[in-house]
Amino acid sequence: MEANPKIPQHVTIIMDGNGRWAKSRGHERLVGHKEGAESVRACLELAVELKIKYLSLFAFSTENWGRPEQEIQGLWSLLLEYINKETPYMLENHVRFMVAGNVEQLPEYLRIAIRDVTEATAASDGTTLVLMLNYSGKWDIVQAANRFAQENPGRQMSWEDMDSYLATSGIPDPDLLIRTSGEERISNYMLWQTAYTEFYFTDILWPDFRKPEFRCALEAYSKRERRFGKL
Ligand code: IPE
Ligand code: IPE
Ligand code: MG
Repeated sequence: MEANPKIPQHVTIIMDGNGRWAKSRGHERLVGHKEGAESVRACLELAVELKIKYLSLFAFSTENWGRPEQEIQGLWSLLLEYINKETPYMLENHVRFMVAGNVEQLPEYLRIAIRDVTEATAASDGTTLVLMLNYSGKWDIVQAANRFAQENPGRQMSWEDMDSYLATSGIPDPDLLIRTSGEERISNYMLWQTAYTEFYFTDILWPDFRKPEFRCALEAYSKRERRFGKL
């Protein structure tokens, strides 16, 4: 049976606006990140309900290393907390967990937690949740090109080769990219993979982006006409 074209196969989200959400309430930025984790749960639940095959989330960019050490460490401990808290939900709901990005630079305790949940959910056949961690589009293209050249000396690279050497190898290109918080830019995200992705921007800050807001984005997507250069 053909998949319903109105429901995207792969939704990717640039989860933005946590800091502003917290600041506007007189809280530290980390409070916004913590509340943002609740939005992750809400969106994952809807993705599972609607049988969206892939939900990828931009959680930390290569450029985010430029933030204060305290915020970065806070993000890592929140992430560990998230993994520990959400693993039972993922197992019960057949969610497969994956990370794409330069994982080697992450603290060891986090790499271990990531490895464990990835292995524990590897056989899940429902929604795949992909956390884009220490990721950037330029990093991805360069690592893919370098790895290809090393493994295939003297061979020209095709675009299919690029697809299969990117960190998102095996995952179809996003059908829909959502960015919250009113910023309308790609911020060095999936540069190659978004060649024909539909973009949806909303002023809503990430901690306020829950099921109804996700449904709105999906509704907008269902009305788009995708032509891929054809008539
Ligand atoms: C997005 O929210 C989360 C990460 C980049 C980790 P921000 O932290 O960028 O929040 P704003 O954009 O400063 O409000
Ligand atoms: C993009 O948000 C990165 C993530 C959501 C992880 P940023 O807040 O870092 O992007 P800019 O600086 O506004 O472009
Ligand atoms: Mg931001």
